[in-house]
Amino acid sequence: MKVRKLGLLGVFILSGIFPAGYAQNNVEKRVEDLLSKMTLEEKIGQMNQVSFFAVDDKAIAQYSDDDMDTFLVRMGIAGGQGQKKPSEMTKAEKIALIKAEAAKMLDNNITQPIRDGKIGSLLNITDPVMVNRLQKAAMDESRLGIPMIIGRDVIHGFKTIFPIPLGQAASFNPQLVEDGARIAAIEARSTGVNWTFAPMLDISRDARWGRIAESLGEDPYLGGQLGAAMVRGFQGNGNLGDPNAIAACVKHFIGYGAAEGGRDYNSTNIPPHLMRNIYLPPFHNSIKAGAATLMTSFNDNDGIPASGNDYILKSILRDEWKFDGFVVSDWASIGEMIAHGFAKNDKQAAEISANAGLDMEMVTGAYLKYLPELIKEGKVAVATVDNAVRNILRIKFRMGLFENPYVDTNKASVMYADAHMKAARQAAVESAILLKNDNNTLPLAESKKIAIIGPMANAPHDQLGTWIFDGDKNHTVTPIGALKGDYKHIRYVYEPALDFSREKNTANFEKAKQAAASADVAVVFLGEESILSGEAHSLSNINLIGVQSELLKAVKSTGKPVVLVIMAGRPLTIERDLPFADAVLFNFHPGTMGGPAIFDLLFGKANPSGKLPATFVREVGQIPMYYNHNSTGRPAPEKVMGLDEIELEAGQTSLGNTSFYLDSGKDPLYPFGFGLSYSTFEYSGLTLSSASIPMNGTLTARVTLKNTSNVDGTEVAQLYVQDIVGSVVRPVRELKGFRRVALKAGESKIIEFKLSADDLSFYGRDLIKRTEAGDFNIWIGGDSNAPLKSTFSVTE
Ligand code: NOJ
Repeated sequence: MKVRKLGLLGVFILSGIFPAGYAQNNVEKRVEDLLSKMTLEEKIGQMNQVSFFAVDDKAIAQYSDDDMDTFLVRMGIAGGQGQKKPSEMTKAEKIALIKAEAAKMLDNNITQPIRDGKIGSLLNITDPVMVNRLQKAAMDESRLGIPMIIGRDVIHGFKTIFPIPLGQAASFNPQLVEDGARIAAIEARSTGVNWTFAPMLDISRDARWGRIAESLGEDPYLGGQLGAAMVRGFQGNGNLGDPNAIAACVKHFIGYGAAEGGRDYNSTNIPPHLMRNIYLPPFHNSIKAGAATLMTSFNDNDGIPASGNDYILKSILRDEWKFDGFVVSDWASIGEMIAHGFAKNDKQAAEISANAGLDMEMVTGAYLKYLPELIKEGKVAVATVDNAVRNILRIKFRMGLFENPYVDTNKASVMYADAHMKAARQAAVESAILLKNDNNTLPLAESKKIAIIGPMANAPHDQLGTWIFDGDKNHTVTPIGALKGDYKHIRYVYEPALDFSREKNTANFEKAKQAAASADVAVVFLGEESILSGEAHSLSNINLIGVQSELLKAVKSTGKPVVLVIMAGRPLTIERDLPFADAVLFNFHPGTMGGPAIFDLLFGKANPSGKLPATFVREVGQIPMYYNHNSTGRPAPEKVMGLDEIELEAGQTSLGNTSFYLDSGKDPLYPFGFGLSYSTFEYSGLTLSSASIPMNGTLTARVTLKNTSNVDGTEVAQLYVQDIVGSVVRPVRELKGFRRVALKAGESKIIEFKLSADDLSFYGRDLIKRTEAGDFNIWIGGDSNAPLKSTFSVTE
């Protein structure tokens, strides 16, 4: 823990911008010219990415005494033979030694190798002054002056943090997602970061997997649309050379989200049809949108680790999809093929990955060390290295890095700009999902006195969610922060009862009850600390953690109306909590502006419109459960028998021999696409432009959508289809379109979806993508259970 902390400390904060315009023309010619001048070592250097953690004053200020002592001992500068012990030194002495050592390390491990042409990319450097210094070593002090591409995990915002990607997905709003990525790019680029490792496009059907937080949910169509939107946002809407753009990196290729049992880094077993029809499409879509780079994943699929899989990296990515950007490994994933038992040592791992078509190695240096020998031995061809370097240089030229490698450190800071905070607030509003609202408990009248209870009401770090290397909790506006700001006119009493989500001490529950009793309504903020989701943070139990459910019950026992507001990194199993809440507003960690956004919704300044991007199961044992599952031979009937209804010694077949759980039935708690509003919507009159379309045809589906309430609202209308008979078993439903529709109170609109026959294509028995003639069901409605249905056919 200590060592890791040392490594992560010391991240710089910065500003600056590049001038616009760069030579985009003749990229291929420039690539070839440069390549022809490079030595083999310089080429291999381009394939090497090194991580950089600054050890500067700011970093050192965050070190504990223990951290410093560990550093001094580990670096061999104290505590050894003939050296002073850390306990014999003053703090000032320690700091001076650490700084001197850090400067030496920087020179030996980073600056000199850059000058020698041995580093093509850095990650985790965010200090513009340092970026400029190191870029100068690359541009002016190396033989060929090749700029470095500088990467950072900018996942859901840089400084201004947007909702976690799973939350953004709940908005079903590509424009909002694109705008968020644009803002993240502007902030990140102003520090010299010009490459992000996002979007993460792993289809995620398992809420135990901590990285579901980073995903865009369970659906390939939604993930494909939103992933492409993120790519556009990061990359300046197709203009990679935009001085405010950063290169996107779609990850993790491939299948990482299907880790067995939701245990991060675990094996996946995705067979070809599932791979082609579910896991690959979001990647293909984002590559069509211009994603410049792609990252391989840690997992092996059916025995082949992704970083050594030439079939996915060559046959699919290059030959079929014509991807011409570059591929980077995940952190140490080349070397990890040794632990997989797929390579016997680093040298063989480097050979396998280079030959599989993996262009750049993240952090482990096996390419740098072993490719020269492997080439001499004829195990890797020079042409393979040339191709990798071509791919890397092509992106560097397209990004205009040769013309604009530096950061303008004199520019005013763009961090946390008002417009960015406003966009983050809107994103948090659109990402919240109203799951329950009995007796119109919400919206609340502003005249009500409110009891604010629970550990997430004032958790500035935790509400930001996972992967926020750069976001600063001091800028977070929590719900309590909002009650001191925009909502300061609200009368409230605050009793957190628990300091953090995992706390088990119930000593303050009485105080929470008293607070609730003294108010008109209790708003209980529960959920997960951010550390409970994200990379390497899988859970086998996804109930509200700790004693939070007990807290909710205690508050409900006062008889006051209870609003449950959840902030979490994953779908949770909350069925047991529902009886104790009159209304439930679910927020995937909502980011910097979560507090005001939540009150905008609670007080009806905004109307909830988010829809679930992933199924909410009743019990963890139902996982995996997702809406677009294949049709089984024995689908469960509408009503299945519950445990209590089964007679003693009932006959073997008396329950019907269909597919369901005796204890938790056939349905999830909430289906994909579900979400309520303060308005009510009615879908009617589904009509199709034709009962059948030819293979090159297009169908128009129309439906009347009416806001039947007296509140203005926005509904996400969703279109699903089912290919009734296929050459392989097809899903019961597949999302093929969605649209956010704003409707005034009482207003109705006819909404239209176009569906081409091509939209119905899939990889069939022969693994070739085509549309198969036949009959289709079509539904339009407010979630994946929408009942309004029609049928059409596609003819040869
Ligand atoms: C490991 C993660 O799996 C990946 O998503 C991330 O981009 C890299 N580390 C770099 O931090």
